[in-house]
Amino acid sequence: MYRTHTCGDLNKEHVGQEVTLAGWVQSRRDHGGLIFIDLRDRYGVTQVTFDPAHNEQAWKIAEELRSEFVIQIRGKVIARPEGMINARMATGAVELVGTELVILSRAKTPPFEIESDQEAPREINEERRFTYRYIDFRRPSKKKNLIVRHEAIHFIRNFLSDEGFLEVETPILTKSSPEGARDYLVPSRTEKGMFYALPQSPQQYKQLLMVGGIDKYFQVARCLRDEDARGDRQAEFTQLDMEMSFIEPDDILGLVERLFTSLVNSLNERGLITKKIMQSPWPRLSFADVMLKYGIDKPDLRFGCEIQEVNDMVRGCGFGVFTSAIDSGGVVRAIVAPGASETFSRSVIDELTEYVKKYGAKGLAYIKVIGKEGDVYALESPINKFLGEDVAQRIAQQMNAKAGDIIFFGADKQQIVEEALGMLRGELGKRLGLIDTTVLGFAFVKDFPLFEPYNEKGMYAPMHHMFTMPKPEDIPLLDSDPLKALSWQYDFICNGYEVGGGSVRIHDAALQAKIFDLIGFDDVQKQEFAHMLTAFEYGVPPHGGMAPGLDRILMLLLDEPNIREVIPFPKTGEGRDLLVGAPSAVDAKQLKELGIIVQRPTA
Ligand code: AMO
Ligand code: AMP
Repeated sequence: MYRTHTCGDLNKEHVGQEVTLAGWVQSRRDHGGLIFIDLRDRYGVTQVTFDPAHNEQAWKIAEELRSEFVIQIRGKVIARPEGMINARMATGAVELVGTELVILSRAKTPPFEIESDQEAPREINEERRFTYRYIDFRRPSKKKNLIVRHEAIHFIRNFLSDEGFLEVETPILTKSSPEGARDYLVPSRTEKGMFYALPQSPQQYKQLLMVGGIDKYFQVARCLRDEDARGDRQAEFTQLDMEMSFIEPDDILGLVERLFTSLVNSLNERGLITKKIMQSPWPRLSFADVMLKYGIDKPDLRFGCEIQEVNDMVRGCGFGVFTSAIDSGGVVRAIVAPGASETFSRSVIDELTEYVKKYGAKGLAYIKVIGKEGDVYALESPINKFLGEDVAQRIAQQMNAKAGDIIFFGADKQQIVEEALGMLRGELGKRLGLIDTTVLGFAFVKDFPLFEPYNEKGMYAPMHHMFTMPKPEDIPLLDSDPLKALSWQYDFICNGYEVGGGSVRIHDAALQAKIFDLIGFDDVQKQEFAHMLTAFEYGVPPHGGMAPGLDRILMLLLDEPNIREVIPFPKTGEGRDLLVGAPSAVDAKQLKELGIIVQRPTA
């Protein structure tokens, strides 16, 4: 038997017992002949002492020990003397007096230091950590991410199983499934020149499961999308994929809200996370509303600073920038930066102006509110004289500005103003410290347009995907003005991230065919989805679902800065697995078998 207890087990109750532990040497200290070892495993750290007077043979071996050696120790549990008790350690009331010591495996000096349970995580170069990810996992903060990931998925599986969902595995070697990214392809050996695609999501299979009468499906599903990695994006990621039959949008949103509320509560109760849900019930916002108020479809709701349209107030004013924006069909919108007068010097405002210019804005007009007496504001602004004092007063009034605030303006085409002020709002949240970082601002966004303006072929492009159901009352618009049609798509958002997407699906073959036409599918493209249309001829229940991205949600629950930290073996921005060295060349025989001739890029 390698061990009788783990390194996290021993406490006062074990005093006097003979036990065996196994683990890694976290540290070794020599104190005038006496050797102290901190022995670590997944469960904790136990202090062990070796006394030459007590057992010289074991002590001699202990002298050889270095950090990260794997050892097995037999010894007797004793209570630590009064002053030596470490209340911050679960095993801090006892120590083990080592009598036998076996070195199971030696270790080189690790490429980075592994802090103890009680220290704050150290900053370590990410490339180095991911190259030696197995050593990274010995660090308490990273080990914790794996544990919480497991606990969350375990909770979700139980929750959905209790609600009658079946977990069904869908293929990894499959056919292209359009989620808007590039496919990873796998060559077929038996049919040379033919390829499988790795799934961007199990979308089609889960719909086919509904046709099969499975009624409620879920899967902790790996999805693969050949796109450049970013902080919230990996080529390989995990969705909690779900689908239900005979449902309406509220059924799905209700399920997701219940599931994630219970999950967050459970993880909190067990001390695994500290973030609390900001608001319950979760807000359900319309796309049009969030684009106006926040300039982005995944707003961070942990702070206010809502954008307002001021077209009516500035129409016909003396400031050409505003009037010409409106006259050419654009908009003028404004946002209040609370208390910014003091903190934002001229150079900060210049920086912000440059920042919004990155998003297409031509400038960043502003009014400083110096004070307010009765109904009259004292304002200061380079544009005051053009705008006119009474217009400026009315804007400040409508925006409910306070002394010390700055009102910023965007005037341009609607899309540019949305993006520029939306990004500015995010920047204000950060720079003015407006964000409550202890909460999770969960919400749903709904009423998305069915289509984005136009795709590269000049046809309509689905905003979510081509299986999304138009709102039933908007179906007639598909013939008259498709861009006006709203859909039964909904996004699940949190703290400025889209953490999930879903929709009620089309369950009518004719409607699905019509959408294919509007997207501009030719016969070859339609043929790619023939299996869906065929299935739809054999009795389809109304159905819909959602797929929360587990990595993004875990990143937010655990307050990590990017999803790489919650993915066990992530890839770099360039898509490399630094640990195993993938992608890599393969030998000529393998290529030949697959009928592949590689054309290397010429330098
Ligand atoms: P969608 O493409 O919106 O929908 O994806 C759903 C959620 O998956 C997560 N996600 C990602 N996470 C990490 N890295 C990526 N590259 C990445 N791409 C997506 C996001 C996103 O909200 N089949 C539909 C779902 C449905 O309609 O039921 C789908 O895949 O959190
Ligand atoms: P100008 O008339 O270009 O000197 O600009 C006067 C002020 O208006 C400056 O503060 C500019 O940053 C700002 N400004 C210029 N164009 C825009 C615009 N399209 N939207 C918002 N502010 C602008």
